[in-house]
Amino acid sequence: MNIREAIRARHSVRQYKKEPISAQDREKLTELISEVNGDSGLNIQIIFDEPKCLDSVLARFSKFRNAENYIAIVGDKSLADLNERAGYFGEKIVIAAQMMGLNTCWIGGSFSRKNCGAAIGDDEKLVCIIAIGYGLNEGARHKSKPFAKLCDIPEAEMPVWFKAGMIAAMMAPTALNQQKFFVEMQGEEALITTNGGGMAQIDLGIVKYNFEAASGHRCV
Ligand SMILES: Cc1cc2nc3c(=O)[nH]c(=O)nc-3n(C[C@H](O)[C@H](O)[C@H](O)COP(=O)(O)O)c2cc1C
Repeated sequence: MNIREAIRARHSVRQYKKEPISAQDREKLTELISEVNGDSGLNIQIIFDEPKCLDSVLARFSKFRNAENYIAIVGDKSLADLNERAGYFGEKIVIAAQMMGLNTCWIGGSFSRKNCGAAIGDDEKLVCIIAIGYGLNEGARHKSKPFAKLCDIPEAEMPVWFKAGMIAAMMAPTALNQQKFFVEMQGEEALITTNGGGMAQIDLGIVKYNFEAASGHRCV
């Protein structure tokens, strides 16, 4: 499975098999996260076999079942772009996990912060978590806004790279599937913006990762 296929195949999965993540997959994920931390300056942590964080009333209401592994996206509070950075590098892990045969779900609200097993320093913030495991299903494709609402170029006039990036951006997970982003072509780059706060900034990072990974062109 290549990156574009992984972006297409990824959907939120909230119900997992009661099957621990294999030793081989644990090792791969731990290595990948340490590499991503080196590149991003974040302090992302993976917590295995911990049922409490996603067993709250809120989590059950959101239909999470057997979600006993998760990735905590933690970073320095003082980073001005912490949420966007969390989205970009978290999505890099999500897509790599999809390629390994694991399923995921971004979670900004429906988890217990109090029961999160991550070590969070005084200068750090837990931005959100990502549930991870072997899904009971592969999830379902979300509805997307049309091109015309998400970018400034008519579909017929898009260069091949821009269209590939747009398709991957439209498949990106966003909080409540709100897709509050807008893409403009600026020469060989894409300018992606949002007018939303908090979660929309995480979404922005996620969308930028998908666009860059599928198009091979930089997003600013
Ligand atoms: C930043 C962010 C926060 C999210 N928070 C939650 C959450 O608290 N609870 C939940 O059930 N899903 C959450 N989601 C998952 C979204 O509902 C889901 O990504 C969106 O509906 C699109 O569906 P898809 O991921 O299957 O493409 C979140 C997604 C993102 C990107």
